[in-house]
Amino acid sequence: MPSRFPTAWVDAVYAASDIVDLVSRYLPLTRKGRRHWGLCPFHTEKTPSFSVNGELNLYHCFGCKASGNVAQFVMEMEKLTYPEALLHLAQLYRVPPPPTADLDPEEERRRSLRERLIEATRDAAKFYHELLWTDAGAKALAYLHGRGLDDAVIRRFGIGASPDDWDALLTHLTGKGYTVQELEQAALVTVRESSRYDVFRDRAMFPIISRFGQPIGFGARALGDAQPKYLNTSDSLIYSKRATLYGLNLLKKSRGLDNLLLVEGYMDVVALSQHGVANAVATLGTSLTPEQARLMKHYAPEAVICYDGDEAGQSATMRALDVFQGEGIPARVLSIPGSKDPDEFVRAFGAEAFRALKPQAATSFRLSRMEAGFDLSSEEGRREYAKQACRLISTLKEPVEADYYLGKIQLKTGIAKEVLAAQAGVARQRTEPAPAAEKPARGAKRQEDAVSSPEFTLAALLALRKLPPNFVAESDFEDAAVRRIAAGLLAGKTPAAVMEDAQSEEDRLLAGEIFNRLPDLDPEAAIVAAEDCLRKIRAGKLNRRIEQLYNEVKTQEGEGKRLTLELIRVLQLEHSKQSQ
Ligand code: UTP
Ligand code: MN
Repeated sequence: MPSRFPTAWVDAVYAASDIVDLVSRYLPLTRKGRRHWGLCPFHTEKTPSFSVNGELNLYHCFGCKASGNVAQFVMEMEKLTYPEALLHLAQLYRVPPPPTADLDPEEERRRSLRERLIEATRDAAKFYHELLWTDAGAKALAYLHGRGLDDAVIRRFGIGASPDDWDALLTHLTGKGYTVQELEQAALVTVRESSRYDVFRDRAMFPIISRFGQPIGFGARALGDAQPKYLNTSDSLIYSKRATLYGLNLLKKSRGLDNLLLVEGYMDVVALSQHGVANAVATLGTSLTPEQARLMKHYAPEAVICYDGDEAGQSATMRALDVFQGEGIPARVLSIPGSKDPDEFVRAFGAEAFRALKPQAATSFRLSRMEAGFDLSSEEGRREYAKQACRLISTLKEPVEADYYLGKIQLKTGIAKEVLAAQAGVARQRTEPAPAAEKPARGAKRQEDAVSSPEFTLAALLALRKLPPNFVAESDFEDAAVRRIAAGLLAGKTPAAVMEDAQSEEDRLLAGEIFNRLPDLDPEAAIVAAEDCLRKIRAGKLNRRIEQLYNEVKTQEGEGKRLTLELIRVLQLEHSKQSQ
């Protein structure tokens, strides 16, 4: 893949990047042998088939066949172009930026604008946070203390205060060289015909920080009853409320989490953190989006929804359950007693009491919510409830689960389980074929024939770099695509570089498939395997050549024909004996 950067700089970025570290920033990995495994971020799965190979600097998913190196990984995860991905990696792994003359001017403009806006937001966050400890921030600090927050957690989340002033931030940031237009684009300043003023005034400021530690917006809490209660940064070039979550930046430090708590508000995340519950995130003033659900899955395999105990919170829980289900993410529900929100609960009863709350299975939560809508003291109410509940049960995939919940419905309604099972269609469902397998992998067609071929295995052995020089030649490969890949390896390129330079997406995926095919072999085993492949490849070639000659000779006339055919037959026989 070409980039407009100097090759030496690109090489330096690759050398500095570490795929295991990179991937670990998005999902928990477990080491097994030389590979690391995790749940694939590119498709939904329950058992890990996503492998990361630190030695080859590659990742590969055995489920969906996604494959690539560090650059492709950030391109996919961050939706970046190739040059953007390289710059992103450079920043992450502290490689100084390339000489700007080599940048595409349009690319450069967009990148530098984004960076400017992030820098402006960072400076704003600093301004607000520092202000908190001065007279101008005293009211906000008293408010935060009054809500039970201590200074340590205020610092950890970088909470600040916007002054009761029309243009304090505007003045501060223009003084630092930002233009009004930049501040408007960062959604920090409002520009009207003849006036311009700070968006946030007289509020407690919760900076929203991306998982890369970049400040991208704010949630701003009124200090009293002012409306709206929370004012949030509007979407901008750097901030999308539907695509990020509050609290993500602090999760990075806690890998290998069993689950992630999803709460409603900024205050919930902060209060829980202060009490030692460090795995909570919150949406940003909208209901949960599929994008956010997938983002959560990068950090932990399960979600626990912990919304407010009030009616709004409970119906939001139902919607969130639907979103998680739609994304195939396991989710449970933690209900807070007494219509409280997690912040109030943990503050009133402490972390012990919070940890003692047991999450409820999604189906169980859905059933009890459904139950609340019916009068179970009347016969009709029980019947209607049973019908609706059975509709829910009919969606369950596991017969054991269905049976368990049917038992519960029986207890509530007094209707026999067999009848309920018939209503839910459970008996029939059990005999139905299993749901169709996951959608076919990209490039699956191409692999089927290639995967079992000795050429394929031979290329994989080459990638392991355990073969003596000149053991294999480019001409040993007949399949054009496999040969291109082998040629790269023979020319001394690393597997990562071969994928990098692949002519087409198909070649790249094929390369990924090849490079991730083999377990580590010791050199002897690799040589034996390669010899075996070479023998098969050469035998195949010879066979085809003999076949061709045979067909040619058949069209000839005369005594020579009979003898030649006989000769070919003997050779063929002999050859097939040898190549067994
Ligand atoms: P809540 O009203 O439950 O607020 O809104 P909260 O977190 O309990 O707030 P405190 O405890 O009174 O400070 C939950 C979330 O909904 C969004 C915010 O993201 C808030 O954290 N929200 C709420 C808004 O965006 N605007 C509002 O006016 C209110
Ligand atoms: Mn609250």
